[in-house]
Amino acid sequence: MSNYSIKNLEEYFQLYRKSVREPETFWEEIAEEHFVWRKRWTKVLQWDFSKPEVTWFENAKLNITENCIDRHLHIRGDKTAILFEPNDPKEKAQHITYNELYSRVCKMANVLKDKGVKKGDRVCIYLPMIPELAVSVLACARIGAVHSVVFAGFSAQALSTRINDSDCKMVITSDGSFRGSKTIDLKGIVDLALEECKGVHSVLVAKRINSEVKMKQGRDQWLQPLLDKAKATYTAEVMDAEDPLFILYTSGSTGKPKGMVHSSAGYMVYTAYTFKNIFKYQENDVYWCTADIGWITGHSYIVYGPLANGATTVMFEGVPTYPHYGRFWQIVEKHKVNQFYTAPTAIRALAKESLDYVDKHDLSSLKVLGTVGEPINEEAWHWYNNNIGKHKSPIVDTWWQTETGGIMISPIPYVTPTTPTFATLPFIGVQLALMDEKGEELKGNQVEGRLCIKFPWPSMARTIWGDHKRYFDTYFSAYDNKYFTGDGAKRDAVGYYRITGRVDDVIIVSGHNLGTAPIEDAINEHPAVAESAIVGFPHDIKGNALYGFVILKEIGESRKQENLRKEINQQITEHIGPIAKLDKIQFVPGLPKTRSGKIMRRILRKIASGDTSNLGDISTLLNPEVVEAIIEDAQ
Ligand code: WT7
Repeated sequence: MSNYSIKNLEEYFQLYRKSVREPETFWEEIAEEHFVWRKRWTKVLQWDFSKPEVTWFENAKLNITENCIDRHLHIRGDKTAILFEPNDPKEKAQHITYNELYSRVCKMANVLKDKGVKKGDRVCIYLPMIPELAVSVLACARIGAVHSVVFAGFSAQALSTRINDSDCKMVITSDGSFRGSKTIDLKGIVDLALEECKGVHSVLVAKRINSEVKMKQGRDQWLQPLLDKAKATYTAEVMDAEDPLFILYTSGSTGKPKGMVHSSAGYMVYTAYTFKNIFKYQENDVYWCTADIGWITGHSYIVYGPLANGATTVMFEGVPTYPHYGRFWQIVEKHKVNQFYTAPTAIRALAKESLDYVDKHDLSSLKVLGTVGEPINEEAWHWYNNNIGKHKSPIVDTWWQTETGGIMISPIPYVTPTTPTFATLPFIGVQLALMDEKGEELKGNQVEGRLCIKFPWPSMARTIWGDHKRYFDTYFSAYDNKYFTGDGAKRDAVGYYRITGRVDDVIIVSGHNLGTAPIEDAINEHPAVAESAIVGFPHDIKGNALYGFVILKEIGESRKQENLRKEINQQITEHIGPIAKLDKIQFVPGLPKTRSGKIMRRILRKIASGDTSNLGDISTLLNPEVVEAIIEDAQ
């Protein structure tokens, strides 16, 4: 059956048309022929975006880990499943075979079961990029527990909010983590977080940096001794197609983070199928995605998608700049990486440095390059194409979101001709719509509007944990019967899509999705602050950086203001994490507001980017005079 691997543009269009005309037949064939099921579905798709309710492969039974591990054992048991490259290049890489992965996951599953974790329970995973992270994720899936991975760069407060929101009873963490030349005291952060989390009864601690940590009696246990005693087999729990597989938090423009809930069957089918085609994975390839498993990119395209295809997937613990700017290219050469998937912010950071760091290495193994996380600018695209791909490896600019579970718009390499900065065409089964200001769908080409999706796809999030109404309000209320992405996009003369960026109050900094509200909340908690507003402004490496406009209760002298700037960033680091720190902070007498009291971020964005020539109509503001004062003082 060839539908699984798309060979040319004609076949892409054929399959695309089929996926639109007969979506159920299309996905049923994929699901039937490429996965193992404990029981077949009774209906492929049921949906109603007005609720919204979506079910794929209704009543089917499966366990995703049988698809990601067990079924490979007899054909590729000795093949490397996870290739772990440590932070320190002097430490040996680990090749974890499918056989080894099987026993490690089963041991971990037994440990979780022994600790009383049951099907449906939520488990928080706060680990660095070490094999235990992937193993813990898969072990949860094997016993039917819902994993909630929290990126190990988040602060104690961000961690406790997430633990409490999904009512996790257990946290899996490590003594600490290596990040370049630094170590981070993860266990200390967990201890602090757990002061606010009364529901957590058990903490399992992996050893990574061999630091002294305090172990709380009755709550904390070292993981390794438990694993050493555990049995290396575990019969996978039989899950329903729609049982939640995991929760992953993403920032909204307002309020607390949203725990996006992903399903078992639809998520598996879509991530596996997109992985196979968008990275053109062949049996002996080595695939590397540089993301962290703490983000959706890592869930879908380090763990589940690659493993469902029996791939070798690299897990890199470190950072692109340690011990030098050539680390990525050194790893590509060392492991003969065939597919390399990273973020525009990493490309821009490395493109600044000497080409010697690149040219020292043999990159001839590369066949496909990918980017994700934000729009890639033309210069970065060309640098990637010229120096890394050497005009031989197509670049797949993949647009998607935590909410979509898998890649939605992307070229298919060696099939779709690429154009710099264009994510090009919708993937098979993805029905896009661009909407105008009046809420009408823009038909035809050469149009620009708000990007929506008008038909369900298998890996879409099913709800926000504990708040289905918010799920409807955020994504399905703007336009009838459509999922609204929050992004703007253009469709050019040939039907290619170019993402123009967020149209809401979410700012993408270094590929991380940050909501303005939680950052403003953190700033406003400082006793000297009356009110604040955050906007993004263009930054060479990060794409966007954050600019904060802050009203103080009292204007102090400038030395005091300098200290305040530090304290505000400290406050943000504690509440959210260092990724949300402000590059610029301006103390202002007021914020431009509409008569209904809404901050006019459009004006602040212009001021922050130094473009005050055309501020548009400000006469309707409640306080137009404040705009002048802010411009005068802008940084
Ligand atoms: C937002 C989603 C999906 C994994 C990483 C981010 C932006 C993502 C692209 C791209 C332009 C992109 C969008 C989107 N985005 N990929 N190829 N071109 N913009 O996941 O944190 O949920 O953020 O990232 O604005 O809405 P996320």
